[in-house]
Amino acid sequence: MTKKILVLPGDGIGPEIVAEAVKVLQRLQADGLDIELEQGLVGGSAWEAKGHPLPPETLEQARAADAILLGAVGGPQYESLERPLRPEQGLLGLRSELGLFSNLRPAILYPQLAAASTLRPEVVSGLDILIVRELTGGIYFGQPRGVRTLDNGEKEGFNTLVYRESEIERIGRSAFEIARKRSGRLCSVDKANVLEVTELWRQVMIRLGEEYPDVELSHMYVDNAAMQLVREPKQFDVIVTANMFGDILSDAAAMLTGSIGMLPSASLDAQAKGMYEPIHGSAPDIAGQGVANPLATILSVAMLLRYSFGDAASADRIDKAVGAVLDQGLRTPDIAAEGQASVGTADMGDAVVASL
Ligand code: IPM
Ligand code: MG
Repeated sequence: MTKKILVLPGDGIGPEIVAEAVKVLQRLQADGLDIELEQGLVGGSAWEAKGHPLPPETLEQARAADAILLGAVGGPQYESLERPLRPEQGLLGLRSELGLFSNLRPAILYPQLAAASTLRPEVVSGLDILIVRELTGGIYFGQPRGVRTLDNGEKEGFNTLVYRESEIERIGRSAFEIARKRSGRLCSVDKANVLEVTELWRQVMIRLGEEYPDVELSHMYVDNAAMQLVREPKQFDVIVTANMFGDILSDAAAMLTGSIGMLPSASLDAQAKGMYEPIHGSAPDIAGQGVANPLATILSVAMLLRYSFGDAASADRIDKAVGAVLDQGLRTPDIAAEGQASVGTADMGDAVVASL
């Protein structure tokens, strides 16, 4: 049956990088991949066109699609909007409305780009870790939240870090299943020494671990995990953690590879329906210049085919094509070594399509 992919370019460099990923999809389509592409609006551009960062039409399209490919949202021109209308709410709304609780963020160092990392080559060479971030709960969504004025006139801001056992269990299960298919090592990151909710997190992980005797479970406090990630990142294989810890640690992990422009992500629901996006943002500083790196978005297409469509062959084909263009020495400015010539967004996309 024809699978429907909703394409949401979003803001900033989003439209440019998504255009290259679409070229890749169209090439696979020409080779027989049975897909149908549809475009939609999200983020600041949706607010401009429809008055809301997640218009009801987009949500409907997203529910009807088999998978979603998203570029990026956000930009300085939207920062003064009231919170519910900001572009980020489009993204958070999609995650929450579609129940995309399991966020997979791989950090892989491409050997061709070893020199791009700020860490010494021996610390990062061969790096291949996966952060499994809980995406629809925790402090991002906890109630109550807000800013209130106290009796003495002073303002007080508050958010709530809350997790139910069932929420911890389902993200834990996601992570154990993945760890089982990789090296069999899972590190659960919490702050159980201070926060009750993450003590519960740890207890649930330990309980779940009994069902996965083949997976070696360890625990680490988040502050130590941040330190270990830059000290000796290769000690990790799969990390599972709460929404905000995962947000922070995945940026750190991305930079180990030297190139946030290379990293894709998947956000999955319980049926492996998913939304796929590069982990970098909308990069307003370079938007419209045709210099953004489309590879993270192209690699997100590979994840989409692998996780939502179970099409490992097409996914491998894309991964290999990306490896090939790197081997050929093609570099967008973000991954070019000092003094190395660079190519633009469309040239990079065309090169991937050619090497497919
Ligand atoms: C991410 C981003 C988002 C988040 C923002 C844009 C809402 O930083 O996907 O990591 O905080 O989750
Ligand atoms: Mg983030």
